[in-house]
Amino acid sequence: MPAIVVLGAHWGDEGKGKIVDLLSQDAQMVVRFSGGDNAGHTVVNDQGTFNLHNVPSGIFSPVAKCVIGNGVVLNPQSFFEELSALEARGVDVERIIVSDKAHLVLPYHLMQDGLEEAARGDVAIGTTKRGIGPAYADRAARNGIRVGDLLDDDALAVRLGVVLDAKNPILGLHGAEAPPFDEIYHQCREFGERLRPYVVQTEKLVNEALDRGETVIFEGAQGTLLDLQFGTYPFVTSSDTTAAGVYTGAGLRPRQLDVILGVFKAYTSRVGTGPMPSELLDETGERIRQQAHEFGVTTGRPRRVGWFDAVAGKFAVETNGMTCGALTRIDMLDDFDTVKVCSSYRLDGSVVDSFPASEALLSRCEPIYDELPGWKQPTAHLRNYDDLPAEAKSYIRHLERLVGCPMNLISVGPHRDETICVRPIV
Ligand code: GDP
Ligand code: IMO
Ligand code: MG
Repeated sequence: MPAIVVLGAHWGDEGKGKIVDLLSQDAQMVVRFSGGDNAGHTVVNDQGTFNLHNVPSGIFSPVAKCVIGNGVVLNPQSFFEELSALEARGVDVERIIVSDKAHLVLPYHLMQDGLEEAARGDVAIGTTKRGIGPAYADRAARNGIRVGDLLDDDALAVRLGVVLDAKNPILGLHGAEAPPFDEIYHQCREFGERLRPYVVQTEKLVNEALDRGETVIFEGAQGTLLDLQFGTYPFVTSSDTTAAGVYTGAGLRPRQLDVILGVFKAYTSRVGTGPMPSELLDETGERIRQQAHEFGVTTGRPRRVGWFDAVAGKFAVETNGMTCGALTRIDMLDDFDTVKVCSSYRLDGSVVDSFPASEALLSRCEPIYDELPGWKQPTAHLRNYDDLPAEAKSYIRHLERLVGCPMNLISVGPHRDETICVRPIV
């Protein structure tokens, strides 16, 4: 006890990395359970500023084991590059372990992602082109290669042969071909040798840690609205990004989650295609994007921005059973005369306050806003809730009422210390 999951409440980039880094100071284990290096989690602390893609944001904790769970798709190339970069900056990466059951992202997945995106033309998803969708598709089609497969050369040769026989006809549809068998086999053997010291049955260790009463943090990637099941399909990622993903993606036993913490950003952002009712395409949107430097950590793409979408936020609270929230980037709204919150949608002439089930319905939704007075003063230096300007407190209370969950943490800056703990999360 306790098992804590930290999840994105909207379309990703809510500040999960910052919150996990903060909470991991008192944790014994931090576990990634979904996604891959499509995630870009920024951590800012006394050691510097880090953009993490594969490595859990608990890597700066004094003791926590950092687990890459079985639900992750791991690109060994980018994993090792990330490890080297961290080591070069003096970060201790000894405490990382990798599940034998995590699936691999190999060069032909990246190739397939790019080709399929190009073929989608006007309806491209806007993926990160990291091969994530193809790797998860192979997993479901039973054409994947798992980390554990790299540890036995002979079995790997057989497996890779089968996998390439299935893959080449698919790439062939786009006039492409996977790199030759020998090349990939050689690369996989190298990856295997380097990965060997990290590989364990992580699910066993996770459950043993919880049995010992340790604190384990499950670090969500992406956000609820990018979930393969519950997100704005088909403009989603290919993994289970909600609390449910922890059970399959880390091997956690049902009934064990104690805290389900949603990370909300004080306004809403999205990268890639798909409906976003509160998107601001005007100069206010540009002002937020520039001021808040809303450009993707993984791809550098400009993020789409809009006022806080509380309809979507409420959906995230209900879908995940969030017990509390962390509200980030409140400081980015310090300069506005008024701030708006999308509290319902107008859909085909009616007012709705529940999140529509289909992409077609959501793209017809128009935002209905509540307008509140801005606070017009800096907040980044504040560390106590009582010291926040009255208007900021009203804004926070308004969001809490609309989404239906208390914001136990208020983040006023990117640094670990720039946080207000309103009340404990446990
Ligand atoms: P993640 O993917 O959910 O971990 O979020 P990202 O790292 O992609 O994007 C969040 C951005 O906001 C990063 O640049 C963080 O350093 C930054 N950030 C997090 N919390 C705050 C905050 O309260 N204020 C400000 N100004 N920046 C924040
Ligand atoms: P973090 O963990 C924001 C988006 C992509 C695209 C869609 C599918 O940093 O919050 P994919 O490459 O996963 O097949 O792309 O999902 N996406 C993210 N958007 N933050 C992320 O991660 C994302 N990971 C994927 O932009 O729209
Ligand atoms: Mg991110």
